[in-house]
Amino acid sequence: MALLWRKALETGVEWQDKQHKELFDRINRLMDAMLARKGKEEIVNLVKFLDNYVVTHFGAEDQAMARLQFPGRNSHIAEHKSFKEQVAGIKKDIEAGINLAVVIETQQKAVDWLTNHIGVVDKELGNYILQKTDTAKKSA
Ligand SMILES: [Fe+2]
Repeated sequence: MALLWRKALETGVEWQDKQHKELFDRINRLMDAMLARKGKEEIVNLVKFLDNYVVTHFGAEDQAMARLQFPGRNSHIAEHKSFKEQVAGIKKDIEAGINLAVVIETQQKAVDWLTNHIGVVDKELGNYILQKTDTAKKSA
């Protein structure tokens, strides 16, 4: 029951889509592992990945928002901050002990993020980036 990447999740900005797909693959890896009853092992890998991802990927988006003066930057950053806090919370839970509940909760939070952040606000940002980059190209 792997998730399928769908066009609706794409922003059209190459680097952004590439980084989003990487997260998507990692979530699928966790879901596969859960089916194989190896979710508890895989969750450690996912959280390690997320720990780095929230810095590099959110950093890249923030740089683009600042550079292009994206009007929705503050609320976008607030969503990133909230996801970072969720990752920190999962990390804490895992340190206290890995159980099925935390594996399922992590998977749900990650899927929620895909649907509600990547599929909605990142798309708005992507459109803006495309628009601005296009204007820059035209006026160059
Ligand atoms: Fe974002």
